[in-house]
Amino acid sequence: MRIGILGTGGMADALGTQWARAGHEVRAGGRRSGGLREAAEHGTDAVLLAVPYEAAVDVVAGLAETLRGRTLIDCTNPVGPGFTLRTAGGPSAAERIAAAAPAAHVVKAFNLCHVDVWRLTPPVFDGRPLAVPLCGDDEGALAVVRRLVRDLGCEPLNAGGLDRAGLVEATAALLIGLWVGEGADAQAIAPPVAYSGGRAAPTPVPPEGPS
Ligand SMILES: NC(=O)c1ccc[n+]([C@@H]2O[C@H](COP(=O)([O-])OP(=O)(O)OC[C@H]3O[C@@H](n4cnc5c(N)ncnc54)[C@H](OP(=O)(O)O)[C@@H]3O)[C@@H](O)[C@H]2O)c1
Repeated sequence: MRIGILGTGGMADALGTQWARAGHEVRAGGRRSGGLREAAEHGTDAVLLAVPYEAAVDVVAGLAETLRGRTLIDCTNPVGPGFTLRTAGGPSAAERIAAAAPAAHVVKAFNLCHVDVWRLTPPVFDGRPLAVPLCGDDEGALAVVRRLVRDLGCEPLNAGGLDRAGLVEATAALLIGLWVGEGADAQAIAPPVAYSGGRAAPTPVPPEGPS
């Protein structure tokens, strides 16, 4: 695939390196000397938006025509001071980005984990691949991002349409607050799936043998 990356910081480097290793043609560009436009033009299969949320809408609006029909992956976290959402009371970051480039197919992904997690080869913990929730409305774009998730050694999860991206962004704010603010093991907040609907089925007790 031809993947363009808007931004040349940590997330651009982490994910771009992984995808290049998987055999994709990756081109990252920064704001100096037309790099953003060159990266967007290069990304005929996918474009990763990897700039701060505060810059994201303007960056995308300036490239709206180039991004027409493109898969645009939004990994931004609109998290402000006190682990609050900068988007509170309004559309999510992903929805604002989609409104700025209405002909692009936006998929929310890769925003829940620290940049160094995305550098792991692979991001597998206790034998379990990291699950990556995806929100988007275009099945073709979702299929592209699912493949890019698997290229990292992770598992894609269907998290619904782009109207649910705000939930994933709020989850990031919650997790970052627990990890950074409290030093808590935020992974422990969810029970195993067997308990997700209530009490798990009882484990069968093996019959006692002759004594
Ligand atoms: N770091 C993490 O752990 C992490 C994890 C998940 C998601 N994210 C999200 O991923 C995105 C990128 O994060 P990052 O850690 O890669 O940040 P970063 O290392 O600070 O890199 C940000 C990139 O955005 C560029 N940029 C900054 N302001 C810009 C503007 N006004 N116009 C155009 N480009 C601008 C920077 O360019 P210059 O170098 O020229 O300043 C740099 O290339 C953010 O939205 C963040 O919330 C980060």
